[in-house]
Amino acid sequence: MTTLDSSLLERLEALRSKYAASGQELVDFLDGLLEADYLTYWDYIRLDSLLSLQQPRTPHHDEPIFIMYHQITELYFKLVLHELDAALDAPMPGTPEWTPAHADALAEHVRRCTRYFGALEQSFAVMTDGMDRAQFLRFRMALIPASGFQSGQYRMIEMALARLNELVHLDVRADFAGETDPLVLLDKIYWRGGATIAATGEKTLTLKQFEEKYAKAFAERAQRVHGRTLSDRARALEARGELSDSLRDALRELDQQVNVRWPMQHLKTAGRYLAKQPTDARATGGTNWPKYLPPKFQLRIAFPFLWSDAEREAWGTGS
Ligand code: HEM
Repeated sequence: MTTLDSSLLERLEALRSKYAASGQELVDFLDGLLEADYLTYWDYIRLDSLLSLQQPRTPHHDEPIFIMYHQITELYFKLVLHELDAALDAPMPGTPEWTPAHADALAEHVRRCTRYFGALEQSFAVMTDGMDRAQFLRFRMALIPASGFQSGQYRMIEMALARLNELVHLDVRADFAGETDPLVLLDKIYWRGGATIAATGEKTLTLKQFEEKYAKAFAERAQRVHGRTLSDRARALEARGELSDSLRDALRELDQQVNVRWPMQHLKTAGRYLAKQPTDARATGGTNWPKYLPPKFQLRIAFPFLWSDAEREAWGTGS
């Protein structure tokens, strides 16, 4: 009879202690292993489920491209939130739990988010150049009033980055600079104004649907992140003279990537499909998109204190 070598015995002993700690018997788990099948790639990543999620509403060849690229984007948004949630859960600078290692971890979260948004910016040509315009203009009619405007993850990303005071609609932002109630601020957030019909003050159907689905989640999120956003963290570090040059650069890069470069690529795409035919096409979400989408009009800046007056004034103009 062959004997078990010492390295195997060591592992068995480690496993025995692991299970004993929760009152379990190692032998039962070994029996389970004998019964279990090998894992496969397709089961591990739930491939069949993933590939069953594309359900076009029209027979146009290019509609699946539109669906899949939105799904790809939402997965990237999920990756971004995965990093931002970890950053939000970490101790705040200035508290006893905060250590310099937390600053390094924060910088790494920030760099990963920039990388994900960078990948999205680079791949946006799948939309900008990769669909037949005539087909797009037809299949989009079957999607009204759905719009990327209704991406809940996108809104949660911006709520994790910026203080809500800085996401208030530009027309009234100055009036709410000192407001501290996150729910009051959420009520004035820029996209609510963007999807309200100016002449009547009525909300678009896209906005009504969006609020119905996410109002509670956004309110919870607004309260959870209040005072803990990346912007609050960077401010706290800055105030203590502990904001390193590398973290400052990483935050500025993220701000540009999320709030200028990706939106500009998206705007270019909206322009290609919707501009002048002979007049600008109405967006499926019903915003006045040439006025609503450009970063220079929204002036959404996650970390305004990291930019000079001149840089903020030139936001989204490419200069
Ligand atoms: C042909 C492709 C696309 C066109 C023509 C387009 C057009 C538009 C338009 C016109 C809006 C303004 C809201 C409205 O009135 O509907 C909008 C908003 C938005 N779209 Fe797209 N879009 C496209 C692709 C995408 C993709 C792939 C995503 C990824 C999820 C996306 C995400 C968003 C987001 C997050 C908003 C809200 C932006 C904000 O509030 O500042 N869009 N889109």
